[in-house]
Amino acid sequence: MSTIQFPEQLKWGAATASYQIEGAAKEGGRAPSIWDVFAHTPGNVKNGDHGDDACNSYHMYKEDVQHLKDLGVDLYRFSISWSRVLPDGTGELNDEGVAYYRHLIDELLENGIEPMITLYHWDLPQVLQETGGWENRDTTDAFLSYAEAMFQAFGGQVKKWLTINEPWCASFLSNYLGVHAPGKTSLQAAVDVSHHLLLAHGKAVQSFRRLVPDGEIGYAPNVGWLEPFTPDEKDVQACRRGMMWQKEWFMDPVFKGTYPETLKDIFAEQNAVLRMEEGDLDIISQPIDLMGINYYTGSIGRYKEDGGMFQVEEIPVDDRRTDIDWPIYAEGFYKTLKDLHETYGDVQLYITENGACYNHGVEEDGKVHDQERIEYLKQHLTSLSRAIEAGVPITGYIVWSLLDNFEWAEGYDKRFGIIHVNFDTFERTRKDSYYWYKETVENHRFNL
Ligand code: BGC
Repeated sequence: MSTIQFPEQLKWGAATASYQIEGAAKEGGRAPSIWDVFAHTPGNVKNGDHGDDACNSYHMYKEDVQHLKDLGVDLYRFSISWSRVLPDGTGELNDEGVAYYRHLIDELLENGIEPMITLYHWDLPQVLQETGGWENRDTTDAFLSYAEAMFQAFGGQVKKWLTINEPWCASFLSNYLGVHAPGKTSLQAAVDVSHHLLLAHGKAVQSFRRLVPDGEIGYAPNVGWLEPFTPDEKDVQACRRGMMWQKEWFMDPVFKGTYPETLKDIFAEQNAVLRMEEGDLDIISQPIDLMGINYYTGSIGRYKEDGGMFQVEEIPVDDRRTDIDWPIYAEGFYKTLKDLHETYGDVQLYITENGACYNHGVEEDGKVHDQERIEYLKQHLTSLSRAIEAGVPITGYIVWSLLDNFEWAEGYDKRFGIIHVNFDTFERTRKDSYYWYKETVENHRFNL
């Protein structure tokens, strides 16, 4: 038997996001977000599912905090629903909405769990979509005033913050590929949105320094790994182009104050141009304290002339896939972490999401035997340990997700939780992976 050991100081956590778990969509003065509108439009989400009730965590947050406490984690990463605290997008704060998060934060702190807040996990107030959403540069100022209000309300108690979750998903997946809200299919829109998300991030970081001087802030991009099929330059460059879309496009502006030229050219060939104002890149490249990394999957990449905009074809490493059909590529996680360290230097990293979709239900013995999820976590935590040993500055690992939840366009069919949720009764059942993760967190190690 081999043991994988982690440093004592590594922080462990679990994550969720507002629209995916809260429910209470029409309660406590909350106004609709783009996800309410998108999900209630037939054809957008599988089975016509929506987040009206989700996991009902709005009413059950105390129970959820007890699950976190028993799990023994240091951190809980959750997001704030912008339209719950600011129903008009800007202006007057909704006291009831603010009170909900205050109670949640108090409950966490009383139970010895440190909150980590994500400001934007995709649920833009619908009222702002009506004036162009993230395509409209003014939304960056609306975000700034929302962020400032949250820093003022919670910055005394909460010291770890993330601005934007997965800007690639919030821009390209949502506005070019049309899979997520608002469901557009325009490359130009996506490029505009991507720039505005980064600008909003930079503006918020500037204010954070003033309003929460003793706090830490960053953002949480998603990355996947593409391993070249052969060492041939054609395959290597094809993989670079493919990864650049998630990595360099969203990281170079923050860490280097530039956008990758190769990608600008590729977009320009498709008639989509990067529109910026002078000084934008200075705002975007504000130093950050931490970077969140969300990693789920990777593939082998091979040059293909007609392989889309980036001329790359993705080939699964083998036929193992999770229930959402994503290839499993734990080695890619190690390579991603090494590569990020080499490219962007010593910024401290948190794995803000990593986990697997497996749809096991509650069995006759009242338990959820999700051995596959445990295997996935073991493989990825082995990669994490390798990266730490190789000198990558990793401060924390946060599993996605605490609860089965509203899995965006996939609805409730796809389960990522270490706790099973019955979406009729909202009953929570701890899965085998919950107990396995608890033991790993407690001992700072696991056996292979
Ligand atoms: C998102 C989560 C999502 C998970 C699984 C990430 O893209 O941040 O909200 O549930 O991956 O798809």
